[in-house]
Amino acid sequence: MMTADPSADPSAATSIETHIVAHPHVLYVGTPAYLIASTNSDGTPNLAAASSHWALGDMLCLGLEAAGQTAQNIADRPGITVNFPSAPLWPALVRLSHLTGRHPVPADKSKRYRFEKDKFGAAQLTPQASELVDAPRVQECALQFEATVRRMTPGLDGGYFMVEAQVLRVHADPALVPEGTGEIDPRVWHPLIYAFRHFFDRGPEAGWLDSSRWAPPPVID
Ligand SMILES: Cc1cc2nc3c(=O)[nH]c(=O)nc-3n(C[C@H](O)[C@H](O)[C@H](O)COP(=O)(O)O)c2cc1C
Repeated sequence: MMTADPSADPSAATSIETHIVAHPHVLYVGTPAYLIASTNSDGTPNLAAASSHWALGDMLCLGLEAAGQTAQNIADRPGITVNFPSAPLWPALVRLSHLTGRHPVPADKSKRYRFEKDKFGAAQLTPQASELVDAPRVQECALQFEATVRRMTPGLDGGYFMVEAQVLRVHADPALVPEGTGEIDPRVWHPLIYAFRHFFDRGPEAGWLDSSRWAPPPVID
């Protein structure tokens, strides 16, 4: 690995090339996967596997394709649950990976997807009643968010929405919440990581911020 010359101009970019140009067919570098539940027009639940998201404060921004049943549902019925599986649940996401709750299946999805009304059953997962929204939670997921969609912004190519959802309530497996804290213990929580179409458990702890509720004294300058 190249190290920086401390006497060099700090604004100058190095011209030494250390990387090669890659052409990955997807840009999924590794984020927690999630299961989003929404409500169909007849009141039954839909469930979909997804990974595109970020969180700031109590807002989640989800990247959801426009052709899916989930996007249709949440445009009309904004109550959703966002459920985070741990690594052992990865086969459930594979079971969902060729299913859509949309009927008829849109032409551009028809090669890879088939309609399934009972996504929970197909995924071998258990719907659990929510407290604040109609969409059920996924009982097997250790971390479950109830949320309401506040805005759906069409993406540039029309193929996806940026969905801003406000988290209303967080439900956690008690094993994740040290007694009396209400916080999630990051050392106990193991999200399922989705990277370049493979699933991983997270690795060992590498570090922390001093703003963490669990932070020991800093070890770096
Ligand atoms: C691991 C995984 C991650 C996925 N990530 C997303 C995603 O971030 N956004 C999305 O819209 N679809 C994603 N999909 C595809 C949807 O699950 C798929 O389009 C599904 O048919 C949607 O279901 P629905 O039509 O019933 O809503 C992902 C699928 C898998 C298996």
